[in-house]
Amino acid sequence: MLSIVIPARDELYLSHTIKDILAKAETDIEVIAVLDGYWEKSENVIHDPRVKYLHNGTPLGMRETINRGVAIATGKYLLKCDAHVMFAEGFDKVLIENHKNGRIQIPTRKRLDPVKWEVINDGRLDINYLTLDENYKGVLNGNMNKDPKLAEKKIDRIEAFQGSCWFMKRGNYFNLGLLDAENWGPMGHEAQEIYFKSIMRNGHVVRNKLTWYAHWHKNKEELTFKSDRSKSREYMKVFLDEFYKRRDKGVKKSFKRKDLAKMFKGVGVEIGVRTGAYSEIICQNGEPTRLYSIDPYALPYRDKRSRTIGKERQEAFYQGAIEKLKPYKCCKIVRKESMVAVADFDYESLDFVYIDGSHAFDYVMCDIIEWAKRVKPGGIVAGHDYYKFRDAEVVTAVDTYCKVHGIKIQLTDERTPSWWFVKK
Ligand SMILES: C[S@@+](CC[C@H](N)C(=O)[O-])C[C@H]1O[C@@H](n2cnc3c(N)ncnc32)[C@H](O)[C@@H]1O
Repeated sequence: MLSIVIPARDELYLSHTIKDILAKAETDIEVIAVLDGYWEKSENVIHDPRVKYLHNGTPLGMRETINRGVAIATGKYLLKCDAHVMFAEGFDKVLIENHKNGRIQIPTRKRLDPVKWEVINDGRLDINYLTLDENYKGVLNGNMNKDPKLAEKKIDRIEAFQGSCWFMKRGNYFNLGLLDAENWGPMGHEAQEIYFKSIMRNGHVVRNKLTWYAHWHKNKEELTFKSDRSKSREYMKVFLDEFYKRRDKGVKKSFKRKDLAKMFKGVGVEIGVRTGAYSEIICQNGEPTRLYSIDPYALPYRDKRSRTIGKERQEAFYQGAIEKLKPYKCCKIVRKESMVAVADFDYESLDFVYIDGSHAFDYVMCDIIEWAKRVKPGGIVAGHDYYKFRDAEVVTAVDTYCKVHGIKIQLTDERTPSWWFVKK
């Protein structure tokens, strides 16, 4: 199913947009209109089982409004559009058919005359290409839009787009940590947030010219979401700073965590095992003489993820790990919390450690500090999930440790990168 989320504030054309979507969609859809601090006139409310309205009592701003819609969405795919857009017939089918993992699609943008509810055909070209200017603002790229060679590319990577319509897998929205109202503010630079977070995790944004949407481009006086954009402008700089720092950290091209496992030799530890997937990869690809796979399979203090999983599933993971790791004689599952197990290991006794337990700050920080002490000079200290998502604080903890100790980390080239360094 495709969930279509429409943030709206005092919108004149919301009902037109919803009717258009219902008429043009060819797949199973749900439409979620989120009314940011206003009510629709009763004659404009669309009564259709596919349509839901959510109402924010007080205006929350664009990001929170979209997030509220996504929170109740149930589709495998997610499309967000403004409340004043028209679509091509079967737009949903074309987008779903062209989905690829990590891909975000933006249909070709046309111009809408909302009063006539028709596409404006005044000789101006369709909008496919924007470029980011020095202030990271997306500006129309006339040359690229005119280029006949580029016109032949029906699906083409782009670096900038307008936030009025985008399509992705719903899970990707959460994996990328979208949309972050706390740091980026109520609105502004949503497209940039989506683009940079996506490429940071080896995703990509494409223009899909096989379908289109037409957008009513409001002038300043007509804008209804008028929240201040200064916070997003400021945060954009902070975010990009980190983005470029990360890029310069040494991402090894096409070097995956399976390749990292090949570097694991001798005696080592994996913290956080779950079903044993990575312990198995280490045994199959590395040369461990002993691998301690440490996981309490319990509900550690305030570890949200374990608590969401619950005791029963933790037990099932434990049984699964026992089965999976049985063939590997070097592997020993240690059912203890990391900070309890660590006391059983002497300083500088290990050749490698891979940290992937709780991703909350306190846990990752303690894990790095304590387990790094157990690794011999020349051994490898590594871990999973060096990226920002939900409550995960791996990046902050790893960066803090490395800054204090003057360490330069390396990253694997993946959507969920692993980090590592050689202990001095
Ligand atoms: C992301 S999963 C590990 C996945 C595994 N490393 C892999 O790649 O296949 C995180 C695991 O950390 C475990 N965990 C949570 N808190 C922990 C702690 N304090 N010590 C050790 N493991 C912990 C959870 O029980 C969960 O199984």
